[in-house]
Amino acid sequence: MSGIAGVKQRSLLSRLFRTKNLDKILADSANQEHQLKKTLSAFDLIIFGVGAMIGAGIFVLTGAAAAGSDGHLAAGPALTLSFVLTGIICSFCALCYSEFSAMAPISGSAYTYAFSTMGEFVAWIIGWALVLEYAVGNMAVAVGWTGSIKEFLHATWHITLPSWLVSNTLDTVSPEGLKSVDMSIVMQQIPFTIPFTDTHQILLIQKAFNIPAFIIVLAVTALLIRGVSESARTAAVMVFIKTSVVLLFIAVGALFLFGGNMNVLQHNWFANGWNTFAPNGIQGIVTGASTIFFAYIGFDAVSTAAEETKNPQRDIPIGIMGSLALCTLLYILVTSVITGIVPLNEINKEAAVVGAMNFMGYPWASWLISVGAIAGLSSVLLVLQMGGTRIFYAIARDGLLPEMLSKVHPKFQTPHICTIIVGLFVAFGSGLLPINLLAEMCNIGTLGAFMIVCIGVAILRFSDPDRKRPFKAPLGLTFPVLGTLGCVYVMSGLPLFTWVVTAAWFLLGMLLYFGYGFWNSKLNQEPDEEMEIQLLN
Ligand code: ALA
Repeated sequence: MSGIAGVKQRSLLSRLFRTKNLDKILADSANQEHQLKKTLSAFDLIIFGVGAMIGAGIFVLTGAAAAGSDGHLAAGPALTLSFVLTGIICSFCALCYSEFSAMAPISGSAYTYAFSTMGEFVAWIIGWALVLEYAVGNMAVAVGWTGSIKEFLHATWHITLPSWLVSNTLDTVSPEGLKSVDMSIVMQQIPFTIPFTDTHQILLIQKAFNIPAFIIVLAVTALLIRGVSESARTAAVMVFIKTSVVLLFIAVGALFLFGGNMNVLQHNWFANGWNTFAPNGIQGIVTGASTIFFAYIGFDAVSTAAEETKNPQRDIPIGIMGSLALCTLLYILVTSVITGIVPLNEINKEAAVVGAMNFMGYPWASWLISVGAIAGLSSVLLVLQMGGTRIFYAIARDGLLPEMLSKVHPKFQTPHICTIIVGLFVAFGSGLLPINLLAEMCNIGTLGAFMIVCIGVAILRFSDPDRKRPFKAPLGLTFPVLGTLGCVYVMSGLPLFTWVVTAAWFLLGMLLYFGYGFWNSKLNQEPDEEMEIQLLN
């Protein structure tokens, strides 16, 4: 290859994969015009991590994962092992996140790490994947929040809200569910009915919009504009409520079992040995792991608050690892209580924790548990929404999205414009789209981001071995490699249809990048030394 065409081609590729020097990233973030307020401590960060994690995963998804649901094998009492397995994979990724974020305490998280190791194009893709994790994940959490409100109103005042007010416009229907659907309506909607070939489900359009989900997302958006320390205080109250409810549940369960009912656990777990404990063997455990992976989403959000942390090098690793360890322990205990006390075929698939309380003879507890679930899901909404806006903010600061999005409010010192845009996107999505599709798309985006962080840590160990690492994942490349493999393994279990929808999402991302970001990238407006040397020669 020779001449101008050769130079241009090299130039395009080198532009796409040009990395941003970590020192330059740190210098850019110190730019006064774009400074965020530094108020968070290590304790705040643990609260943030727990705030982001305990939510729909443990309160809503556990029952279906243990007892099985349409298209998903039951893990049985071995769901406890699914939580252990996922917790281990997440801890590999958490070590990598900690190493990176202590080196580069920047609000862009995995997006920024990818920029410094794999170049602008990969960074854009991972930024786009993080939007899936935080924004699309939050749509799923908001839909779950409506479910908890419904339960609360029912348990407290026997109020049942009309279905059009609390259902999503698009809904997924399984063959079982289709039997109760008026097929003449389905036929009228055929142009809008999308077959789920692999999961045997279809999407239906209903005359409904999830109003509570829409409103709570707008409320969270307003709070985030007001200020990060206000949001952290609100999250702390929510975390206190939900953690107390979870601990109460574990304590009541332990009292029940150790108060002369250990034979119940013995029977529910081992009546027929291993077959009772894990009715679908290893496959059931892995299926359970891919479902409850959602419960772990959020520990990485701690790293997005790095620029707002007083001593990020020390506190971010504590926040990430501390919140992950705490939640893993709580999840294993909650699952042990549920599966130890309630026979598998009697587990409440929509609300396993409430179901277990009822089973032990405490029906009053459904009110308390739904309060815990509302608080839990609210704090998840708050933290993930903040994470999503910080990613957008970092991308806009690099010129890959319009600069206007990186503006910081003069009084509140928060990125108000991107907070509003992300807020409206999430609010409408949570009113329109079905929860299972949203949660699965979120899982793909998150696993993709986790994987890139693990790979990035490995690359940087070679490309910049002398850089100061305030925190370093031990045992050489063991954890980056195991983390990458673990993510690929969990991702491979997700349904084909979700991959197709996710591919459409990334296509949109490509259009945006090549239509705007590529031409406006701040990095690419700086002289390309390599190309200049070639032209001089
Ligand atoms: N981990 C969060 C939840 O379970 C996303 O709701």
